[in-house]
Amino acid sequence: MERTLVIIKPDAFLRNLTGKILARFEEAGMRIRAARVVRLTPETAGLFYEVHKERPFYASLCAYMSSGPCFPLVLEGENAISRVREIMGATDPAEAAPGTIRADFAESKERNSVHGSDSPESAAKEIPFFFADLEVAVTAR
Ligand code: CDP
Ligand code: MG
Repeated sequence: MERTLVIIKPDAFLRNLTGKILARFEEAGMRIRAARVVRLTPETAGLFYEVHKERPFYASLCAYMSSGPCFPLVLEGENAISRVREIMGATDPAEAAPGTIRADFAESKERNSVHGSDSPESAAKEIPFFFADLEVAVTAR
């Protein structure tokens, strides 16, 4: 069993798509181990996306991620990291495979509705960014 950090991003949260997006992951057998609603600041969004701080889209990304609520969650399942990335689809919705979350819901390459950890190393950093160990551990199996 593997765990990954997913964020339902502000564009999707503000269009009330949280339930529809969660259903995609649950239908694929993923279990929710932790979830919460948070409002990031540009600074905390910047810390989360620090790996991208030299990229031209960084400032705009931080503004967008702090423009409304985010819904981070920990999902658990077999090959959760790669399965979630498949279900999400490519970063740019124009390139995302039909039937993926981003193909169906994303507004643009930036406002692309969901985040998912891209590797075990990223998941290990991203889960504790939002959740204390206990919050993940005590969730019912
Ligand atoms: O989210 P993902 O891992 O697919 O993409 P990323 O390359 O790690 O980029 C993180 C986020 O930055 C994306 O999900 C987009 O919201 C945003 N982004 C952007 O606005 N413009 C780009 N050219 C690339 C990414
Ligand atoms: Mg990424």
